[in-house]
Amino acid sequence: MAYIDFVFKVSSLALFFIIGTTSRPTTVPKVFDVRRYGAKGNGKTDNTKAFTNTWKNACTWDGPSKMYIPNGRFYLGGVSFVGPCTSKMISFVIDGTLLAPPNNNDIKKDTWINFRYIDYLTVTGSGTIDGQGKESWLLNDCQKNMNCPKLAINMGFDFVNKSRMEGITSLNSKAGHFNFFSVDHFNITGVHITAPGDSPNTDGIKIALSSNIQISNTHISTGDDCIAMLSGNTNFDIYNVTCGPGHGISVGSLGKDRNEKNINGLTVRDTIFTGTSDGIRIKTWESSASTIAISNLVYKNLQMIDVGAPINIDQKYCPYTSCQKLGDSHIQIQNVTLKNIWGTSRNKVAVKFQCSKSFPCKNVHSSDINLKHKGVDGPAITLCENIKGSATGKMIPPHCLN
Ligand SMILES: *[C@@H]1O[C@H](CO)[C@@H](O)[C@H](O)[C@H]1NC(C)=O
Ligand SMILES: *[C@@H]1O[C@H](CO)[C@@H](O)[C@H](O)[C@H]1NC(C)=O
Ligand SMILES: *[C@@H]1O[C@H](CO)[C@@H](O)[C@H](O)[C@H]1NC(C)=O
Ligand SMILES: *[C@@H]1O[C@H](CO)[C@@H](O)[C@H](O)[C@H]1NC(C)=O
Repeated sequence: MAYIDFVFKVSSLALFFIIGTTSRPTTVPKVFDVRRYGAKGNGKTDNTKAFTNTWKNACTWDGPSKMYIPNGRFYLGGVSFVGPCTSKMISFVIDGTLLAPPNNNDIKKDTWINFRYIDYLTVTGSGTIDGQGKESWLLNDCQKNMNCPKLAINMGFDFVNKSRMEGITSLNSKAGHFNFFSVDHFNITGVHITAPGDSPNTDGIKIALSSNIQISNTHISTGDDCIAMLSGNTNFDIYNVTCGPGHGISVGSLGKDRNEKNINGLTVRDTIFTGTSDGIRIKTWESSASTIAISNLVYKNLQMIDVGAPINIDQKYCPYTSCQKLGDSHIQIQNVTLKNIWGTSRNKVAVKFQCSKSFPCKNVHSSDINLKHKGVDGPAITLCENIKGSATGKMIPPHCLN
């Protein structure tokens, strides 16, 4: 009986494979290799035109298509890959290295590699996008100069839906590594982001006006926020991320512009911060222009290793000395869960709840926090202003909730 059962299983498996293989031709994507369009991986030839032409054919192919960049060093100027595509399902596979022009002026765009108006896009591969940012970091004087040069982001996705990015590495971006704007249903996994800890404004992943985003199994070491959630985001799940060096995982900054939108639904879990200036952070400008809400945030199972400010709600955010202090932040922070967060803090204030006087933080629930400060200035403390909520379990440093 067992034997018959076995034979039956094997034969139905075989049948499955036969059906599988015969139906395959319709799902195997048509490959568009950049070399067939004249691209050269010698690190010198400008491949902008070859890449643009490859994209045109891949995007207008009537069926699944794949734009392929093989091993090699492909010098590439600023490019936009724009849809909508006929192909319905398009993958962009980078196995080689893409090299940005070292001089920012040679990019002539806000974003070095930009994808726009595309559905079912997959950006994958074992390759690297190298922003070659070193030269332009020296030009970044934005801390002092309001009209500082606008440097290019490595890769951007605008109006892209039901898509994903997996496996690639982003290196030494001039400004941020990845930017997402008006993106819906997008998974980022197994991505590697690297720039020196002192490289200015090199945010890892910056996202606005987007929904249903997953970021997982990703390593980010950079000079600014590992992840920055900006205006108008909903339903984010961030897990198994390692962050550091960098400025942590941030919501905001918000409150600078009048037409900002609410942020609703963010989970950050199973994540390790190492040597970052901040861990989890919410920053809203003092005297903010917009009246919006940041709601339903869950932070759990987070390890902090030598982190400046592990938990930092800052509603008096003012990175420049020139900020006008005109009043309280008008941004309402509510429904925040902090659970199982442990490790070491570089600052004495390991937990900072500096909420708005006009819009106090409400419904903040904290449990099992264990953050230790190693320093001559004594044990870690919590700073509390204008916050309502509750606490349960082990709480180190002592809390101010209830
Ligand atoms: C993406 O989704 C948004 C809303 O979910 C929709 O308005 C937009 O048209 C979609 N974009 C594309 C390119 O399909
Ligand atoms: C993202 O991943 C989830 C599973 O974790 C899956 O259900 C969903 O379909 C994925 N979305 C895309 C756009 O690949
Ligand atoms: C977490 O991400 C790392 C890559 O950063 C990966 O190697 C590891 O397998 C992931 N862990 C889980 C449980 O998926
Ligand atoms: C905050 O949470 C409560 C329940 O805990 C819920 O009723 C309320 O709708 C939430 N607020 C928002 C803005 O989602």
